[in-house]
Order: sequence, then structure tokens, then C-alpha cells
Amino acid sequence: MNKFRTFDPCTLLAPLPVVMVTCKGVKAEDKPNIITIGWAGTVNSQPPMVSVSVRKERFSHHLMMESGEFVVNLVDRPLCDACDYCGVKSGKDVDKFAEQKLTAMPALGMDYAPAIAEAPAYLSCKVRQVIELGSHDMFIGEVVGVQVRDDLFDEDGSLHMESARLVAYNHGVYQNTQDVIGFFGYSVARPDVFERRMKTYHK
Ligand SMILES: Cc1cc2nc3c(=O)[nH]c(=O)nc-3n(C[C@H](O)[C@H](O)[C@H](O)COP(=O)(O)O)c2cc1C
Repeated sequence: MNKFRTFDPCTLLAPLPVVMVTCKGVKAEDKPNIITIGWAGTVNSQPPMVSVSVRKERFSHHLMMESGEFVVNLVDRPLCDACDYCGVKSGKDVDKFAEQKLTAMPALGMDYAPAIAEAPAYLSCKVRQVIELGSHDMFIGEVVGVQVRDDLFDEDGSLHMESARLVAYNHGVYQNTQDVIGFFGYSVARPDVFERRMKTYHK
């Protein structure tokens, strides 16, 4: 039997997909901003919906409320330093795109929020609901556009997210997600199928 220690009730869900959420106010002169988010999730498939939970005091909160938009940018290893920086500095004080030498590019389906050109993939989201939960407001966004960097596709057009060097957030630390252990349903796959499929994944 494993020995356990008791924790006070808390959000010890791990690992989490840490993401860089981009947003912008509606005025032409407003600068785009980036906020790092650990409290993000997939919440529906049809229509595709994701959630991000943001504290009211974040500079990004009012930008997302005002524009009704946000873009979820996935974070790979090369973006990890910038991701951390965007989680400790506020857009109230600094231009995070400029400070981290990141490029704001138009995002599919968005009127205001840009995407980060250096990110491996992004999801453009229109805010459908904001639920006040206590410490955080949960923005539920319908995904209206998705783009994935071209080099993550094979010649046959299949997407290899496992080769994107995505970063996970695991109880206060950032970790690589490099190793492929198996694929959906691998525990019941025939050994020859398992072997053949595993060869197709990039290291
Ligand atoms: C790894 C990490 C995860 C974070 N997750 C969240 C989150 O889910 N929600 C939130 O409101 N703030 C989160 N933060 C804090 C904000 O990113 C941080 O306060 C940021 O400076 C806010 O930027 P802004 O004021 O420009 O909006 C996180 C920070 C880090 C480093």
C-alpha cells in the first residue's frame, strides 16, 4: 500500500497545459497583450470550446471583457522563457510583445486579438460566457479559428503535435512533453499495430 499525505482541498490537478493568451482592447491605439494561463481547459467538442480562468485584477481581464475575444497560443520549449515572463509582468507596465521580441500577427476570425507568430499553434476564441467562480472569472470561448505551424505536418498531411516540444505546467514547474508512451487505445492494440504506429511518431 502506498503511504499518502493529506492536503487541504486545493487545485492539485496536474500536469496542465500552460498557454499564452493574447488579447487587445477595441481602440486602434491599444497595444496587444499576453497573459500566461495555467487554468485553461477544453470544455466542449461541438461547438469546440475552451475555457481560461482569469483574475479580475489582471490587465488582460478587461481587454477580454471589452473585445469579447482571446487567442490561446500553445507554448513550446523555445517560447517557455517568454511564457514565464508574461506570467510575472503586467501589460499595465510593459509591452510584453516588444520586451520578448514576439510578433503579433492577425489571428483567424478575430477583430482585435492577435496571435503570437512564434507559437506552434493557436486557437482564436469568441467569448460566449463569463462565469464568476470566486478568485477567477472563467471565460468560455468558442473556437472560431485554428492555425498550426506547417512544419508539424507530415508529407501525408498528418499532424505531429508530439514533435512540437510543447511545455506542460506541473505543480509550479515547466516540463517537456517529449516522450511518446502510446496512442489513443494502445493498451488494447495488437502488438504489430502498436509497433507500426509507434514508429510513425517523431522523437
Ligand atoms: C505558469 C503561470 C500560470 C498562470 N496562470 C494564471 C491563470 O490561470 N489565471 C490568472 O489570472 N493568472 C495566471 N497567472 C498569472 C498571470 O499570468 C500574471 O499575473 C500576469 O502578469 C498578468 O498579466 P496582465 O496583467 O498583463 O494581464 C499565471 C502565471 C504563471 C507564471
